[in-house]
Amino acid sequence: MSAPAEWIRAVVRAVPPYTPGEQPAADRRVVKLNTNENPYPPGPAVLDALHAAIGERMRLYPDPEATELRRTASEIYGVPVDHILAGNGSDELLALLLRALVDPGDRVAFPAPTYSLYETLVAVQGGVPVEHPWPADWSLPPALASSGAKLTFLCNPNSPSGTLVPLDAIDALAGRVTGVLVVDEAYVDFASATALELVARHANVVVLRTLSKSYSLAGLRVGLAFGRPELLRGLRTVKDSYNLNRLSQVAAVAALRDRDGVRANVARVVRTRIRLTSGLRARGYTVPESHANFVLARRAGVDQGPVARALAAHGILVRHFTAHGLADSLRVSVGTDDEIDAFLAALDALG
Ligand SMILES: Cc1ncc(COP(=O)(O)O)c(C=O)c1O
Repeated sequence: MSAPAEWIRAVVRAVPPYTPGEQPAADRRVVKLNTNENPYPPGPAVLDALHAAIGERMRLYPDPEATELRRTASEIYGVPVDHILAGNGSDELLALLLRALVDPGDRVAFPAPTYSLYETLVAVQGGVPVEHPWPADWSLPPALASSGAKLTFLCNPNSPSGTLVPLDAIDALAGRVTGVLVVDEAYVDFASATALELVARHANVVVLRTLSKSYSLAGLRVGLAFGRPELLRGLRTVKDSYNLNRLSQVAAVAALRDRDGVRANVARVVRTRIRLTSGLRARGYTVPESHANFVLARRAGVDQGPVARALAAHGILVRHFTAHGLADSLRVSVGTDDEIDAFLAALDALG
């Protein structure tokens, strides 16, 4: 006998599931340019710290407050410890924000296209998504602040475009929105400007960071939220006590301390991003200047689905979205130089 679908809450039943990028099995050799991971492994200091942490203490629950990690983040980012919350990836922090701040029927605004998980989380919460199309120049949609929203998301640099909204525009937005402004800075280490200083200036700003991209730790799931203690208290109330496992906390501390390692990593990725961008433009694609570890390549009016599928058949995974007018675009993560050469050669071979 099959279980009745009615057991699932009606709002959840109505939500189209979020589709993450393909994660191929470990034994399948592919050039993986589809989910914006870092192409380089974490540094030796991180691996040493992880090895040292594997042992007898794993029978104990982890620190529910991730104290050492928050202290380290406080030193590095110059934000007080009580203004920091650690999450199981920034995806968890996004979910906590929804759960703590949004009642059914509340409006949640964001520019579109953007990170598609926002829409899913809003729907699961029974909130009302208010999407504002990005203008052609990827500047802030003028009506974003007037959405009457409880929560406004700004992904900066934005995915999938890689474009960056300047700090003064975000500062002005924070002063104009009705509720909380979340600046999702998953990719900001590949850019030149961060909104972290706005947390001190505006009580309604939360900035999210992740160690999944510039720190090469996507597999360990570590995110950080920066915001006023009163706001973070609400997120703590709805979080799982032991949301961040012991090994992830240890690895994150070592990764944050390895300043030279992350700088060198980012510099390599940015160098390859320049090659990837010019390679795609030379092949007729329009590519907005990216401030992230991926680029959005568009061939106006030409469906890129067949291209993505043909590349996949050659073992090269890129991301193709169909919603929000993105069907004629590919999002390509910055891989190693060799991976980008293989991608460009495969594009040429497709003709
Ligand atoms: C804009 C944006 N925010 C958040 C995340 C999630 O990051 P994490 O791995 O920390 O959950 C991603 C992952 O791709 C992302 O693109």
